[in-house]
Amino acid sequence: MYTHEDLARLQAQSLKMQSWIRQQTFSPENIKTLRRFSSWEVSELIFQINQSTFRGRLAAEPDLPGGEVEPDGRQRWFSLDEINELRRKMKINRKTLMPPRPAGKRAFRAAVANFKGGAGKSTVALHLAHAAALDGYRVLVVDFDPQATLSHSMGLTDVAEDYTVWGIMARDLIRETDRMNAAASGAASGTTLPRRQIPGSIRDLGLGELRHGDFIKTTAWSTIDIIPSCANAAFVEFASAQYRHLNPEWSFFAAVSRYLDGLGDDDYDLILFDCPPAIGYQSMNAVFAADMLYIPSGPGYWEYDSTTSFIGQLAEALEDLSGFGATFPAGKISLPKAFADVRFLMTRYEPGNDLHRAMFEAFRKVFGEHVAEHPIEMTRAVEQSGRFLSSVYEIDYREMTRETWRRARASFDRAYEEFKGSVIAAWDRI
Ligand SMILES: Nc1ncnc2c1ncn2[C@@H]1O[C@H](COP(=O)(O)OP(=O)(O)O)[C@@H](O)[C@H]1O
Ligand SMILES: [Mg+2]
Repeated sequence: MYTHEDLARLQAQSLKMQSWIRQQTFSPENIKTLRRFSSWEVSELIFQINQSTFRGRLAAEPDLPGGEVEPDGRQRWFSLDEINELRRKMKINRKTLMPPRPAGKRAFRAAVANFKGGAGKSTVALHLAHAAALDGYRVLVVDFDPQATLSHSMGLTDVAEDYTVWGIMARDLIRETDRMNAAASGAASGTTLPRRQIPGSIRDLGLGELRHGDFIKTTAWSTIDIIPSCANAAFVEFASAQYRHLNPEWSFFAAVSRYLDGLGDDDYDLILFDCPPAIGYQSMNAVFAADMLYIPSGPGYWEYDSTTSFIGQLAEALEDLSGFGATFPAGKISLPKAFADVRFLMTRYEPGNDLHRAMFEAFRKVFGEHVAEHPIEMTRAVEQSGRFLSSVYEIDYREMTRETWRRARASFDRAYEEFKGSVIAAWDRI
């Protein structure tokens, strides 16, 4: 018979070996770097200008970054920083290449969420983040999923749970409890709010002292940062139930929202959440912090079925929260939670498949205007680039059939353009 003690022994054994095993299985090429982009990509795909116009401008304006020239001299290859410098310095027909951003607003927050595993959430989040960065936006991604697919794809493999959404929640619990206790003792005028104790076992983790920036990590993309996740962060679901018990007035679902409120309005343009395939403390934090829900769904009947149950459960969970804060004002959060937009995005779609087309039509019948017009197509390019933990944008088109790469990229580009349209329309509403 085996008890928790045996499990703990097995874990201790594994931890002792962990760094050795990592060394054995780690190769330096696992450190993620970002490739350069060819003048063809920069002009036609990124800036959407004529290639000869672009070459002409480079020749005429020597203070523009010129990229690296291929040995055979045909193509120039530009780094992301050079692309962004070009974007700042160049105007085409007196028009800026900078992406639109409403003045005086904080970054827009979009959650890619569904309860179904394998719906394509992480793939969508990764590609939207890369498309947005190539479009000139500064992006922060938050990985709410302890499966950490997005963190791994962004090159973060060695993450401690303190620096995940779990850490943000535990830190928030400590800070909010202190705030409430201070308010309770400050208001001597007859308030009878109980003081809440946070046990030393939680305070001593030192999370209360973590600084805001400690949670944010850089990636191989200079304009994409990440709050990563890791397997150990799965613990949050279990611990959070206990935390709520410690302080029932703590608005546990608003921890990440409060954290993000602490960022400078102009630190980022877009904040993207990748959500776990379950309703729980982490996904409720994601949903609550989001201005817009982007709900990917595959083209099968069961995926339609589970998407339906997702919005049903979410509706119930959000309704439960709407009465929160009656005993203690929950700070600057406002209830009930309202989204500036809710969108459905079909993924892994095969245009030639009658069943997929029928399912897409059914989605449109049911969810109407909320359904994105351009589904993300099923493509081998995602499998191929995914093998290198990369997006279609990151993989060099010379490493696969150009037509396969081109079609896949076009599908993600269309989905991104539509996403961007929704973001810009919704941004004004926040
Ligand atoms: N458009 C696509 N074409 C081909 N394969 C895809 C596509 N989108 C997702 N996949 C594959 O489906 C699997 C699940 O996708 P993922 O994005 O990890 O889903 P989730 O995050 O919802 O669990 C992955 O193996 C991924 O490579
Ligand atoms: Mg995922």
